[in-house]
Amino acid sequence: MEEKTDLLKKAAGEKAAEYIEDGMVIGLGSGSTVYWMLKKLGEKVEQGLNIKGIPTSLQTEGWAKEFQIPLTDFSEVHYADIAIDGTDEIDPDFNMIKGGGGALVREKIVASSAEKLIIIADESKVVDELGKFPLPIEVLPFGWQLTAEKIAEFGAKPVLRKKDGRVFISDNGNYILDCGFESIPDPGHFHKNLKQLLGVVETGLFVGMTDLVILAGAKGVKVLNR
Ligand code: A5P
Repeated sequence: MEEKTDLLKKAAGEKAAEYIEDGMVIGLGSGSTVYWMLKKLGEKVEQGLNIKGIPTSLQTEGWAKEFQIPLTDFSEVHYADIAIDGTDEIDPDFNMIKGGGGALVREKIVASSAEKLIIIADESKVVDELGKFPLPIEVLPFGWQLTAEKIAEFGAKPVLRKKDGRVFISDNGNYILDCGFESIPDPGHFHKNLKQLLGVVETGLFVGMTDLVILAGAKGVKVLNR
């Protein structure tokens, strides 16, 4: 990653930590921008802040433990006060493509449980229209080839995600198909149609969920409200 982008991610992540108050349950998103939020949050916990986090991936769980952030899960709490997460693309209506790291299902469940979803990003993630970033779709491993054929009818060429030469397995034991649609003019409608396909677990389209965006760019950090 470019050092400049990393600094922007750090700035956005650290700013988000300012929204965390004593006693809150926090949905902890995934990815390299969230890493910086976790690091800052760890410092606040060390200084006495009392919170609990719900991680959205095994990677985030590992980082949270490293930073000594107390964790909880849905067997203990049924909501989060806020969820803080990154994004791969975000449009002017705050709709997003997520799942570049493969954590889209847990991210969506945690974000849905939260009263407020805060998205942190560097300005390169902002687009006029979603779709340039290949849409991650989590699918059941069984019959994934058939699911991919059905998705292809919507205009993409789904690519089975691999990592280090092996098929990538999500934290839920599923596969991810990266689907380059180029352009997704109506994300809500598109998500609903894809979700109806047998074998599709979830899509990386997050529609109408974001409350606040913390965007770091060359001119500083901006907070955008819906
Ligand atoms: C993880 O599955 C994704 O949804 C991430 O939130 C997204 O890929 C952003 O990642 P970075 O913060 O690493 O760019």
